[in-house]
Amino acid sequence: MVQGHTLEIQPASRVAGTLRVPGDKSISHRYVLLGSIAQGTTVITNLAPGADVASTIGCFRALGVSLEMSGPGALRISGRGWPGLAASAVPLDAGNSGTTIRLLAGLLAGRPWQTTLTGDASLSGRPMARVIEPLAAMGAQITTNGSRAPLTISGGPLNAIRWHPPVPSAQVKSAVMLAGLSATGVTTVEEMLPTRDHSERAFPAFGLEVRVDEYGIHVPGGQEARAANGPLTVPGDPSSAAVWAAVAAALPGSDVDIHDVLLNPRRLGFVHALRATGADVIVSVTGETAGEPVGTVRVRHGGHGASTIAAEAVPDLIDELPVLAARAALGGSLDVSGAAELRVKESDRISALVKGLRALGVDVDERPDGFVVDGRRRPAGGVVDAAGDHRLVMAFSIVGLGATGPTTVHGAHVVSVSYPDFARDLSALTA
Ligand code: S3P
Repeated sequence: MVQGHTLEIQPASRVAGTLRVPGDKSISHRYVLLGSIAQGTTVITNLAPGADVASTIGCFRALGVSLEMSGPGALRISGRGWPGLAASAVPLDAGNSGTTIRLLAGLLAGRPWQTTLTGDASLSGRPMARVIEPLAAMGAQITTNGSRAPLTISGGPLNAIRWHPPVPSAQVKSAVMLAGLSATGVTTVEEMLPTRDHSERAFPAFGLEVRVDEYGIHVPGGQEARAANGPLTVPGDPSSAAVWAAVAAALPGSDVDIHDVLLNPRRLGFVHALRATGADVIVSVTGETAGEPVGTVRVRHGGHGASTIAAEAVPDLIDELPVLAARAALGGSLDVSGAAELRVKESDRISALVKGLRALGVDVDERPDGFVVDGRRRPAGGVVDAAGDHRLVMAFSIVGLGATGPTTVHGAHVVSVSYPDFARDLSALTA
């Protein structure tokens, strides 16, 4: 139960039930953004309900675009193409959202005016050089606070570039692709490891050309987006589904069936990781929406195996590492390396995760680029702080479900960044 900013978790013997999770956050950002630069009316349904996507919507309203909620999760964007965007008199506030600030930086680099992008304290501590460098190489002028937000972007004519991001990051790739739309020439991104490809899949739905081949992702410049044909329905967020999948995998007798989930292979690293622990995970594709596969994920407990995750696997489950750590805390073990990126997420997710797991009685070791969880001893539960990080609220809650005593998660209100109804769904599955 959430009371104010605190979530109280009682131990549960198992989780069971059928549910749908909120719309995918990554796809929601992209549809809002592309609909806002498109010519014509785009209707989006099952939009992610959290604060992050609300930040993206707020930024486009400040840029003069008309975006109206026309029902629960339904957004109507009346786009007027590039001419429908105008300089904002006030700084654009990306809140807690890295996707908002980095993708908007790319989009605004080609607009002939000055924009300031800000965010909350957590976002203002996160690295921005990874987007500033390619955008500056394309010709944008960006001033920062030591490569951190606020970012002030003086946009204008851009040249195409060929960019090798120094870290695997879909946000950086997407920022360069969006800037590429306004550049002269063909912009190419060559990734060191493949990352989530939602921008590549969403561009054609808005009439935008993108080519993907063995040499990279290529975006021709000088393009105009047009509104999507018919409503775009955002599939359920696999990062939210992974929370219930992880707890079902941990607690014997559990059986959870999640419908209408995004089944893009670049987001299903958690399925492979849970299977490696022995879990019975059945993934069934039932359809497709705007180039994204959608279907059902059913998870049952099947053992407590030892599992290992190394650098090559990290991009496909980067956001799920906290819940996978929680799953390992309830039996088996997990060894994660090559995941230093976790230190620059909404919190330092290695240090805050390790600290919180220890507070709940979990045996865990911290490494510079990961952590090792030993789940042989059942955690006692206790009192833990979410460190302002929505994914840690969910990870600590799962540990609480499998602990011997009650757990109190402080700062649990931040779960609304991606999953406002998390506590309701937790109650339903443990009833
Ligand atoms: C996202 C990309 C990932 C992910 C984030 C959403 C996106 O971040 O962790 O939650 O929507 O492109 P990075 O690009 O920093 O890896």
